[in-house]
Amino acid sequence: MLKRAVYPGTFDPFTLGHLDIVERAVKIFDDVIIAVANPRHKEPLLPIDVRKNLIIESVSHLKNVSVMEFEGLLVDFLKKLGIRTVIRGLRAVSDYDYELKMAWINKKLYDEMETIFLLSSEQFAYLSSSFVKEIFSLGGDIRPFVPRAVAEYLESLRKGTF
Ligand code: COA
Repeated sequence: MLKRAVYPGTFDPFTLGHLDIVERAVKIFDDVIIAVANPRHKEPLLPIDVRKNLIIESVSHLKNVSVMEFEGLLVDFLKKLGIRTVIRGLRAVSDYDYELKMAWINKKLYDEMETIFLLSSEQFAYLSSSFVKEIFSLGGDIRPFVPRAVAEYLESLRKGTF
């Protein structure tokens, strides 16, 4: 039986920390689906299509990875795909509280699902999409924190060439 898993997130934007989780997840699972959330209640910096395309470019060196978008409940998306495993990255103790609650709520909604946590690699433990957005908005260099495709896109926004 194929081991399939969904790695969900807003990915606004996708960072090297997210990429690290995906690169490690493909060594454990036969098929990893990166599920890009299209949240109704918050407005991400990058539109859904842009977030999705930048992830597709960033993971193009990996086999057995696909990128999809979803709206609504994660559990409904999982049921639609017939997948029961969700991957989430854990960076620091501060993530634990939120992640634990989310895993419990999802389990309450869909008892057959399991959340598997991968510990963030040490060099990305401090990284977050919000920090990247702040550095970007203040004119800083974001290249050490995001895949090349993401850096190039954000740089082109800054220069107004997109
Ligand atoms: N490396 C670097 N950064 C990481 C990381 C890692 N390994 N893991 C998480 N992060 C950071 C992100 O950069 C982001 O930082 P920010 O908050 O400062 O911007 C933050 O942690 C989380 O973002 P992301 O990884 O994109 O996930 P998310 O928390 O936005 O995703 C969903 C949440 C989409 C999975 C969740 O809201 C969901 O399932 N929504 C659907 C609705 C639903 O089913 N709700 C019920 C469940 S409670």
